[in-house]
Amino acid sequence: INHGKKITARAHTNIALVKYWGKENESLIIPKNSSLSLTLDEFYTDTSVVFNGDLHEDEFTINNHSVNDDRLVDFMNVVRKKANISEFAQVQSTNHVPTSAGLASSASAYAALAAAASKAAGLNLNDKELSKLARRGSGSATRSIFGGFAAWNKGNDDDSSYGYSIQDPVKMDIKMIAIILNGSPKKISSRKGMKISVETSPYYDSWIKQTNHDFSVVKQAIEDNDFTTLGKTAELNAMRMHSLTLSSNPSYLYLNEDSLRVIEMVKALRDNGIECYYTMDAGPNVKIICQNKNVKNIVNKLEQYFASDKIKVSGPGEKIKYL
Ligand code: PMV
Repeated sequence: INHGKKITARAHTNIALVKYWGKENESLIIPKNSSLSLTLDEFYTDTSVVFNGDLHEDEFTINNHSVNDDRLVDFMNVVRKKANISEFAQVQSTNHVPTSAGLASSASAYAALAAAASKAAGLNLNDKELSKLARRGSGSATRSIFGGFAAWNKGNDDDSSYGYSIQDPVKMDIKMIAIILNGSPKKISSRKGMKISVETSPYYDSWIKQTNHDFSVVKQAIEDNDFTTLGKTAELNAMRMHSLTLSSNPSYLYLNEDSLRVIEMVKALRDNGIECYYTMDAGPNVKIICQNKNVKNIVNKLEQYFASDKIKVSGPGEKIKYL
């Protein structure tokens, strides 16, 4: 244990091009399918951890506000068990991501916490081990240990379910434009949404079959530097995931009217020869996948409807690092 030593880590968020939606094992967070993402440079979390023998419980602050969260305590218990220690910790986290609005703040949050907490606890984990630890906090965090294009191998137990790098640095000319539509927390967590989809959507098995195929198509497109195939497949995969929410019982929906407006705008841009694709996660925000040459045109179009401070252009981001 690094007694009294404060360790700070920075992790960037990632957006899945091939989505994770559904758990095989809920407590270990083993997914039903492998997923593939792009880590982004503009959205990240900085987290510091210091273990302190005088504390009677873990203390958490997020953006300088103190929080009580059982999920965070559970995660710290996983770290303590791994390191064979019993001390509590002070955890300070700063999110440079709108929290819980489909911009995967849990991905950067648990990746940064896994790195900072494990090191402060005296563990010296490599990236693969860090990704397995981050997975215990949030599935998408498994991929945020890595920069650029990264994947999460589904596996079937704690040891075989881990993240890995597909390509970093990224060779493809690729940007993501996030349109922040609603900064307020979502009503149905991804955890809850996945469970309803797995248990009730009659299309769930088709999703798994199709997504395994989408995974190999996107992976090949990265190797071939084929932006068009990557964009088309990512867009289809996102809509396939959202169709699981619609076909669940009870049915639910993460998109709102502004999300639909952005989707229509992307289609109109495409009709005018500006190549771009959309993707969405467990919230209303839309991310537009495009190339550098078209960023200006797309942003200009978006600014006709949305405030410019709600439009954020990101490139590929880097892997986990200690500050
Ligand atoms: O790991 P969670 O609970 O943040 O779930 C992530 C789910 C999606 O963002 C919708 C898809 C993904 O693979 O990131």
